[in-house]
Amino acid sequence: MAVPNKPKHERVAVRDPEVEEREVDVLIVGGGMAACGAAFEVKKWLPEDASVLLVDKAALERSGAVAQGLSAINTYIGKNSPDDYVRMVRNDLMGIVREDLIFDLGCHVDDSVYLFEEWGLPIWKQSEDGKNMDGKRGEKMGTLKSGAQPVRTGKWQIMINGESYKRVVAEAAKLAIGDENILERVFIVELLLDANVENQIAGAVGFSVRENKVYIIKCKTMMVACGGAVNIYQPRSIGEGKGRAWYPVWNAGSTYYLSMKVGAELSMMENRFTPSRFKDGYGPVGAWFLLFKAKALNGLGEDYVASDAAKAELEKYAPYGTAAITPTCLRNHLMLFEMKEGRGPIMMDTVSAMAQLGKTMDKREMKHLESEAWEDFLDMTCGQANLWCATNTEPEKKNSEVMPTEPYLLGSHSGCCGMWCSGPDYDWVPDAYKWGDTGKVYNRMTTVKGLFTAGDGVGCSGHKFSSGSHGEGRIAAKSMVKYYVDHKDFSPTISQSTQEIVDLVYKPVKIYFEHSGYTTAADINPEYLKPDQMTTRLMKATNEYGGGTATYYQTNNANLEIGMDLLQVIREDCEKLAASSLHELMRCWEIIHRVWTVESHLRHIQYRKETRYPGFYYQSDFPGQDDENWFCFTNSKYDPKAGSWDIFKKDYIKIIPD
Ligand code: FAD
Ligand code: ADX
Repeated sequence: MAVPNKPKHERVAVRDPEVEEREVDVLIVGGGMAACGAAFEVKKWLPEDASVLLVDKAALERSGAVAQGLSAINTYIGKNSPDDYVRMVRNDLMGIVREDLIFDLGCHVDDSVYLFEEWGLPIWKQSEDGKNMDGKRGEKMGTLKSGAQPVRTGKWQIMINGESYKRVVAEAAKLAIGDENILERVFIVELLLDANVENQIAGAVGFSVRENKVYIIKCKTMMVACGGAVNIYQPRSIGEGKGRAWYPVWNAGSTYYLSMKVGAELSMMENRFTPSRFKDGYGPVGAWFLLFKAKALNGLGEDYVASDAAKAELEKYAPYGTAAITPTCLRNHLMLFEMKEGRGPIMMDTVSAMAQLGKTMDKREMKHLESEAWEDFLDMTCGQANLWCATNTEPEKKNSEVMPTEPYLLGSHSGCCGMWCSGPDYDWVPDAYKWGDTGKVYNRMTTVKGLFTAGDGVGCSGHKFSSGSHGEGRIAAKSMVKYYVDHKDFSPTISQSTQEIVDLVYKPVKIYFEHSGYTTAADINPEYLKPDQMTTRLMKATNEYGGGTATYYQTNNANLEIGMDLLQVIREDCEKLAASSLHELMRCWEIIHRVWTVESHLRHIQYRKETRYPGFYYQSDFPGQDDENWFCFTNSKYDPKAGSWDIFKKDYIKIIPD
């Protein structure tokens, strides 16, 4: 249950928090699309006497990447086949993906879409004469499950009226799991391994961001699904725009941090998503490119994508570059190519697109089209609609600038970093891709026993989006139940004392109380630094040395070495973070989670001696792709006992033919 919001003075941290200890059978950390999928599914299979708990740092109704709503569901298989879905994802991610995970998801994702519609999410439908029917008009056409046709934007995407998407999904999750089994506004800080069983998950610790309380939760099995990582690189929006980013600012890399710290193997952490977005407001481009059929123009007003120079550039990256749909990173690459040649800015030609569509429309239909253009942003990025108002932009009269943003780390959108997870237990899945315990296979389990993930957490299998993350949460939940049933007698034991845990979680608060009296300005102190200061420092380091916007996403060995040195110092200085309020305590832990996440990212870039994803990042010492040596996954593992890193290659195995 959510603890009600409190005035600021009641959220001041105290030196000695309360402690609440719990023990449950199944623990779900996170409350986004994947976690809601897991919550919806888990009780259906769990024995009645088993207990389950979901913990979200925010309020389930509006947490995670779908908080603002969405205007499209980007993965709906429909009349396509799961094989084709694998081919699309493989091509978009430049060849190296886990086809078992993607195929498995492709077989299940539509069921989640049917459920969303059943729960009340309006899905646009196509009328018999090919018209777009949204909202109530769409509902009248019947459900997708009953055979009604969605409005396809691209081959995989369908349009929705999705402002309340997350509320709809959260309500079903809450109903399924029960309000009493949900802890909202509790930030998980660390996971705990079992004291007796090697490499076995045993619990999680965190704190309430509304009351001074530390939680210690033991469990037999756990899912971590805390989304991806934002604000690891200097965002383009600064000053009065600070806080605006494409990716939801609440996801701080906790999925990766929590899992890597207990020794879970990471995969493809070098992969990042650098989305091209409407400049400054970060409005998505998908609907404009796909639904409205708009073109991007360079500063000379040319359709640069259709130029010979662009074609020649794409040919360098065949077969991906020459495929029917250009991979996302290469679309960025072309944009950057124009900008670097001095042919910016890149403009989305909204004016021509709307004029073209308007040719076959009457006045009323044209008005509806204009409102759709606004609704696309109002549904999921209302800041962009505000910006249009603030800059007198009417899309039918004035074009808007598009720009590649700062990089984000995620595994469910157009990126594929995350944990190395077991695939499903089918005979066609290679042995190297499935594992478990005592001879059994547990789908979506990480390399730590009993620790599962989904959505942004599962590596090597992007393009799941909202629907796929929900579907994957459901897949993982079933697997967790299987794990629980097979390990019913396991009794989680943790080696840390309650006091040790409290000291760890509240360390920044203690540092603050110990030293804040020394100076008159609470933010300036020789003994500590505040999370905001550390965030600025981290972003400067990654932006300049780790291939941020400052260098057109380029880095090289010499720069990476400096970046890694800076991270080392940043990590040491994180020991001196101080928090005066519960909000700041959360900020302290978020920055720690970010630092480790970004460190794994740079380690992977350093290790992979090629540029696999031009347009997302460039390793300038190794331009282009080197299939002979690098057509493989790169995995890394932090050893929690030794405190050391290992990084190594894993074979790519092709399952679905071209
Ligand atoms: P999320 O849904 O982001 O959930 C993460 C959860 O973890 C949140 O509940 C958060 O509060 C919680 N959490 C984080 N840290 C902690 C912690 N330390 N302790 C406890 N809880 C924590 N998909 C589409 O299908 N169509 C679209 O149009 C579309 N547009 C998108 C636009 C944007 C801007 C973004 C970012 C994504 C978009 N997606 C879209 C993709 C989709 O939103 C994601 O794929 C999906 O939400 C990922 O699910 P997840 O559960 O992994 O993460
Ligand atoms: S959103 O999730 O923030 O809405 P975005 O606008 O990039 O994402 O894309 C939505 C969907 O459209 C994704 O499936 C993406 O791969 C696809 N897409 C976006 N632009 C293009 C394009 N130019 N060509 C093909 N597919 C595209």
